[in-house]
Amino acid sequence: MSSVDVARKAAAKEAIRYVKDGFVVGVGTGSTTMIFLRELHRLISNGHVRDVLLVPTSTETEVEIINLGLAHLLRYPWQVSHIDLAVDGADEVDRSKNLIKGGGAALTREKIVDYWARLFVVIVDESKVFDKIPASHPIPIEVIPFAWPIVKARLEEFGGIVNLRFGSGKRGPIVTDNGNYILDYVPKTEIVPDETEGLIKRVPGVVEVGLFSGKKVSKVIIGRSNGSIITMG
Ligand code: 5RP
Repeated sequence: MSSVDVARKAAAKEAIRYVKDGFVVGVGTGSTTMIFLRELHRLISNGHVRDVLLVPTSTETEVEIINLGLAHLLRYPWQVSHIDLAVDGADEVDRSKNLIKGGGAALTREKIVDYWARLFVVIVDESKVFDKIPASHPIPIEVIPFAWPIVKARLEEFGGIVNLRFGSGKRGPIVTDNGNYILDYVPKTEIVPDETEGLIKRVPGVVEVGLFSGKKVSKVIIGRSNGSIITMG
């Protein structure tokens, strides 16, 4: 196992401690969250965790829940009255627990579920922690396809570089689970995450911004390459 895998596994296993019997659990997206989900599956299968329901934040997570044989636990936001706990990964975290998310283009459903949860726990390996964000990832922004060139121009006026995201396995821009496009924005100057989240959100055509406020994050569990963890929050 690589040192990054050791770190992610340590964070994912620690997050399991926040799951209680009867919880409605929001399940994030990405490779770190998939480790959490597989561990949760193991505990459900051997009877150590009972009566949980799982609300996915993306089609990736939904498919994994089904593949693990847990479709009977799958619920959508309109089928639950609340979410007790959301566990999700992140692309970058700063010392105030602000996040960049959306590397997997799932930021909108992630923000809906994660912000709604009573407890929002983020799991990352130590390479994702920075003094200032964005550090090495752009800020993903989900936009309705009709508006992408206008939003791109508006963001360029704010200052910085904006790219329409292309992926693999399909020609043309990637299309999100909600039928939208992703713009990746690298601001020209340092940002104040809360202010920039609000500023971008007000541009017509923007559906959601991959900046998540540290005020919404309950805990950040940082896994280290030696298998230990540090918890912020
Ligand atoms: C998807 C996300 C993911 O949580 C983020 O990209 C982290 O993924 P990974 O654990 O694979 O590094 O925001 O939209």
